[in-house]
Amino acid sequence: MCGIIGYIGKNNALPKLIEGLKKLEYRGYDSAGIAYFHKNNIKIIKSVGRIQELEKKICFKEQSQLGIGHTRWATHGKVTEKNSHPHQVGKITIVHNGILENYQDLKKILQEKGYSFKSDTDTEVACAYIDYEYQKNPLHNMSEILKNCMNTFIGSYAIAIIVEEIPNQLFVMKKDSPLVIGLGTNEIYVASDISAFADKVSNYIILEDMEIGILTTNEYQIIKNGKRKMPTLKKIDTKNQSSDKKQFPHYMLKEIYEQSEKIQLWNTKYLNHIMELPDISKYKKIHIIGCGTAYHAGMIGKYLLEEYGNIEVNVFIASEYRYQKLFIDQNTLVIVVSQSGETADTLSCIKRVQQYKAHTLGIINTEDSSIARSVEKVIYTKAGQEVAVASTKAYTSQLYIFSMLAIRLGIINHNLTLAEIKNTYHQLPQKIKEVIHKNYDNLTSLLWNYNNIFYLGRNIDYVTMMEGSLKLKEISYIHSEAMPAGELKHGTISLMNEETCAIVMATKEELIPKTISNIKELKARGTKIVLLTLDNLTNSIEKECYDEVIWIPKMAPYVQPILNVIPLQIIAYNIAKKRGCDIDKPRNLAKSVTVE
Ligand code: F6R
Repeated sequence: MCGIIGYIGKNNALPKLIEGLKKLEYRGYDSAGIAYFHKNNIKIIKSVGRIQELEKKICFKEQSQLGIGHTRWATHGKVTEKNSHPHQVGKITIVHNGILENYQDLKKILQEKGYSFKSDTDTEVACAYIDYEYQKNPLHNMSEILKNCMNTFIGSYAIAIIVEEIPNQLFVMKKDSPLVIGLGTNEIYVASDISAFADKVSNYIILEDMEIGILTTNEYQIIKNGKRKMPTLKKIDTKNQSSDKKQFPHYMLKEIYEQSEKIQLWNTKYLNHIMELPDISKYKKIHIIGCGTAYHAGMIGKYLLEEYGNIEVNVFIASEYRYQKLFIDQNTLVIVVSQSGETADTLSCIKRVQQYKAHTLGIINTEDSSIARSVEKVIYTKAGQEVAVASTKAYTSQLYIFSMLAIRLGIINHNLTLAEIKNTYHQLPQKIKEVIHKNYDNLTSLLWNYNNIFYLGRNIDYVTMMEGSLKLKEISYIHSEAMPAGELKHGTISLMNEETCAIVMATKEELIPKTISNIKELKARGTKIVLLTLDNLTNSIEKECYDEVIWIPKMAPYVQPILNVIPLQIIAYNIAKKRGCDIDKPRNLAKSVTVE
């Protein structure tokens, strides 16, 4: 979602801002803009669409030592130049990530004071309000001005500000939206995440809620409640910042392939240390929360923890959980799953469950992210930076951690032996490669032109199909619906005919005959079937059951879901490619969903 970049320093700000915006592209956006000082005037350039469109409008020969930039993911107001950032009112120019919830009230107050507005955005109102406080403050004390604004603003915001009469300072403030400050040599960056400047600086500061940053070329002041504070300096870990596409046409494909080598990394990091992972069986209640793919990983987690730990687990979508009635206390463990570690809905749940004194454990990919810093304990999933909007390797990394937490309990409850477990995990990378290299051509030709595709499965396979269906929707724009295979006859089967198509997963051995019966009910109505099932069943499943089939290697149940999702990722990728979609940056989607 919206990306912020800011630069103050000895070099020309213009290429720095564009480079930073490009690094933030993966977050998702529909327009972009920059504002910079040029000969003591502020120039603003904006464009709808990709950053390349913005670049065409910029004269890079112009020199500037201070500027801000933004990629906008529309929330308030359509995707137009007028609504894109930066916004300027009076002496103030800003870029903003988040949502100002009381902007309508503030707008009325400001209109009564003579302010008028050109855009439909909450950001322009925030900008006008900063200008209003600025005009009221005779000494233009920015620390006081921004403190007053923060006391008035309701909602979430990370804001970078430049002021017409202060051409040598860059200001930032934040609450509930991420903002980091990168410290270089005679240059300082601000951004929504460190990927925007990771190759340019060695240290960074994470701005905390209700903090203000006042930055010059080589000095920074962090202010909270009117008092200067000494922030913690963090070192950039360059190992985790590689976002090179290598030989792959898309990041998504690269990240699908990477899953096999990542398993090897996770094996060294976790497999030899299973018993050092938290014992979650001591809690009376376990809740798992997440959004989208992270929620699906949580659902797989539920099946595995219940199976191997004999403990009841409930899973919730964070945007629902944050408002529902909770029956939790200090005996509850809330497991929070997130790739970005910045998802606003998920973050808000943590704040809420902490009021009930529940314990929190994060399964998080992005180190030092807001969620990672908010939970009591963190297990990092170590998937590396995931650039494609559609999550693949982050999902399998989450499943990996859940499988570890589950078999940690299974070693006691199910008499699993460590040797057996290790052998299974060591085979997994090769099995993933085998599945990736299967032939998906016929299947892609069969599926790519449908407008609706059903994803069916039972038990844990149903959850995998929820994830497969989401992948297809996100990147190919084909509507699809995941459903427990046994539920079809309770309504949805009325849609099934010669023009419909279903992908069916059947890998939970004791349920395969049941799923095959459901397939036959669909075949009888002319529905085309793509079957994903276990390779030990090649001789026992009748050919009449399917139009296309992918045989998946059979593995131990605690790793089978990791393998099962691979063909679904590839199916979605191949279909989206055949339909000519923008695979890494699907329309309307953001990688880091920092608004509610
Ligand atoms: C799907 C996808 C989203 C995210 C969801 C949660 O491919 O990427 O559904 O999984 O927005 O994001 P995180 O995991 O960053 O909290």
